Amino acid sequence: MREVITRDVEHVSRVLLNGGIAGIPTETVYGLAADALNRDAVLRVFQVKGRPTHHPLIIHLHATEDMERWGVFNAHARSLCDAFCPGPITLLVPRTPLVPDWVTGGRNSVAIRFPSHQTAQDLLENVGTGLVAPSANKFGQVSPTTAQHVLQDLGEEVDIILDGGSCEIGVESTIVECINESVQVLRPGAVTSSQIAEHLQLPVQLTTGESRAPGMMLAHYAPKAKVVLVETAEEAENQIAVLRDAGHAVTMLFFPDTQQYAINLYDALRNADLLGVAYIVALLPEPSGLGIAIRDRLSKAAATY
Ligand code: TXA
Ligand code: MG
Repeated sequence: MREVITRDVEHVSRVLLNGGIAGIPTETVYGLAADALNRDAVLRVFQVKGRPTHHPLIIHLHATEDMERWGVFNAHARSLCDAFCPGPITLLVPRTPLVPDWVTGGRNSVAIRFPSHQTAQDLLENVGTGLVAPSANKFGQVSPTTAQHVLQDLGEEVDIILDGGSCEIGVESTIVECINESVQVLRPGAVTSSQIAEHLQLPVQLTTGESRAPGMMLAHYAPKAKVVLVETAEEAENQIAVLRDAGHAVTMLFFPDTQQYAINLYDALRNADLLGVAYIVALLPEPSGLGIAIRDRLSKAAATY
């Protein structure tokens, strides 16, 4: 069998510049990367993921890349960039004529992110252009946080997987729309709405919804097991007892430390499926800080439509 997983950044750069597709590490989750300007390569990313082509992709750039080539950054966007990039934040801004329709699904905006993961930065510096990288999982399923997860999900369908270890954050980047004067968070992540509001000295709304960012539909990040959400340890115990009494295999999901919860979230959902349990009883973290992003992902994992 050919070696799919590698640590050779230069080799992966060549694969990408030759029109290939590659699993790549970032600090949030692993992405499925392709040269943003190569139409066939980007279309292969949609096809391998099984994702509708009108769901736009994030362009990943190295910090030294001239971001004005790709997007139009207003004062808020620039200020957020200075404060939080590189890091787990994606800025949604008006696009420039360079950005192709096959990346944005024909929209006038483009999502841009500068990953802080060292291996991702080395790769982006090496390729010297923008890379699209949706999470490297099949559409609607659980995102990958290790190279092994990518191999399990996409296997021989990717040309190569760049191994950068386990992702240090574990949930996808915060998506912030900076198109008009208002600033809106469309997907919560490790950079929180309150950090953004405090930095900009502005009210910032959290508006998650399919209409704003396609692919943000309710059912997402979903394991095969049914996810049952509870707010207290007592409720968790009760639910587990009821489900076990009914003869179901059940596992519980909770980490007292929110960072550990985010880091382990997707691996735990995946492990539950490997064990073949029917139910995952997930005790939700407090709705503050990173807990907001975890609650968002778990409520989508629990949704059935
Ligand atoms: O942390 C992350 O952001 C990861 C890593 C790999 O960088 N990537 C990621 O990509 O989560 P993806 O494709 O799974 O999620 C990107 C989200 C989608 O829901 C998409 O609809 C939204 O960003 N998006 C991208 N471009 C957009 C645009 N022009 N307008 C509205 N939403 C957009
Ligand atoms: Mg995704």
